[in-house]
Amino acid sequence: MSKKYKIAVVGGDGTGPEVVAEGIKVLNAVAEKSDFSLQYTHFHIGGEHYKATGEILTDKVKASLREHDSIFLGAIGHPDVKPGILEKGLLLNLRFDFDQYINLRPVKLYEGVETPLRNKKPEDIDFVVVRENTEGLYSGAGGTLKYGTPDEVAVQESINTRKGVERCVRYAFEYCRKRNKRKKLTLCGKTNVLTFAFDLWERTFHEVSKEYPDIEIDYAHVDAICMWMVKNPEWFDVIVTDNMFGDIITDLGAMIQGGMGIAAGGNINPHGVSMFEPIGGSAPKYTGKQVINPLAAIMAGQLMLETLGEQKAAERVETAVQKVLREDIKDVAAGKMGYTTSEVGDLVAEFIGKTS
Ligand code: IPM
Ligand code: MN
Repeated sequence: MSKKYKIAVVGGDGTGPEVVAEGIKVLNAVAEKSDFSLQYTHFHIGGEHYKATGEILTDKVKASLREHDSIFLGAIGHPDVKPGILEKGLLLNLRFDFDQYINLRPVKLYEGVETPLRNKKPEDIDFVVVRENTEGLYSGAGGTLKYGTPDEVAVQESINTRKGVERCVRYAFEYCRKRNKRKKLTLCGKTNVLTFAFDLWERTFHEVSKEYPDIEIDYAHVDAICMWMVKNPEWFDVIVTDNMFGDIITDLGAMIQGGMGIAAGGNINPHGVSMFEPIGGSAPKYTGKQVINPLAAIMAGQLMLETLGEQKAAERVETAVQKVLREDIKDVAAGKMGYTTSEVGDLVAEFIGKTS
C-alpha cells in the first residue's frame, strides 16, 4: 500500500489562495511520480471569514486540522482587520496549540536570482535559520497598568524554558548533522545584555553540543549576526535563535536570498502536525491579479515534503524550481516574472512531469 498524506489547505487572505493553488499543482505533479498520494481538505478561514462570522479559529476547526498530516498555508492578513487579531488568533494560535516549536527558514540564493549583496554568489548564501517558535517575547506574558494615562506601564516578558530551549537547540544540532554541509551551528543571542534568557540558551547550547562532536559550534550576538549576514553570509550553515531574533533575522535572510518571492518557512512539530507557508504575506492589493510569484508557496510545499520524510520528492521540486529560476523567469519580484502566477506553477509542474 502506498502512503497517503492528508493535507489541510488554508489558502487564507489576499493572494494566499492563488499561490497555494500553484503549490498544490506542483505537489500533485510530484506525487504522480512518487509512491505516495496527497489528499486535500480546504479550510476557508482567515480575514474574510472573520469579517463575515466573527470567528477566527473554532475548536471544531482546530480538531479537524489536527486530523491531518500537515497544514499548507497561503497567507493571513486583511486590510480591514486590525493588525494583531488574525496573527494572534490564527497563526500564533496554531503555532502554540499545535506545539510547532520550530520555525525553519532556509536562506538560499538560487542561480538566476539577484541578491542585493554585491559580489555574493549562490555558493555564498546557503544557510538555514532554526527559530524557536512557541516562547520568548511571543508568549504573550506581560500586561499594562494605568492604560492610556501619562503613568502608563507596559511590560512584555520573554519566556524561555529549559525544555523549550533544549528541544529547539537539539533540533538544530540534528538538522545541521542531517544537512551535512559545513556542519557548523551558530547560536544567535544577546548574552551581553539579556543576561538571564541567553545565559540559559548558552548553557543549554554548550551542554547539548557535547552530544554532537561532529558539529562545530559558534556564537554571535544578534546585532553582529545582522552585520555578518550582509557582509559574510558564507560563514553560516545553521543558525539557532529565539523567537523574536529569529523573526527579525529571517526577514533579512529573505532579502539576501532575493526577496519574499521565493522565501518559505515551516512551523514544525516533529511529533505532530506541522504547517508550511510562503513568508511573504497576503499582498491584498495584488489579489486576483496573478502577478505574485508562487515559488515561495511551491518551496513551502517542498519543505513540507522534506518534513514528511519524502526526501526524493522534495529534491525533485527543488530541482524544478532551480531550473525555472535559472532558465525561465526574468525576475522573482511580483509582476516582473514575465509570466503569470499560474504560468510559473505550470513551468515547475511541467518540468517535474517531463523528468524521470
Ligand atoms: C512571521 C510573521 C509572524 C511572526 C507574524 C505575522 C505574527 O512575521 O511568520 O515571521 O512575527 O512570527
Ligand atoms: Mn516575520
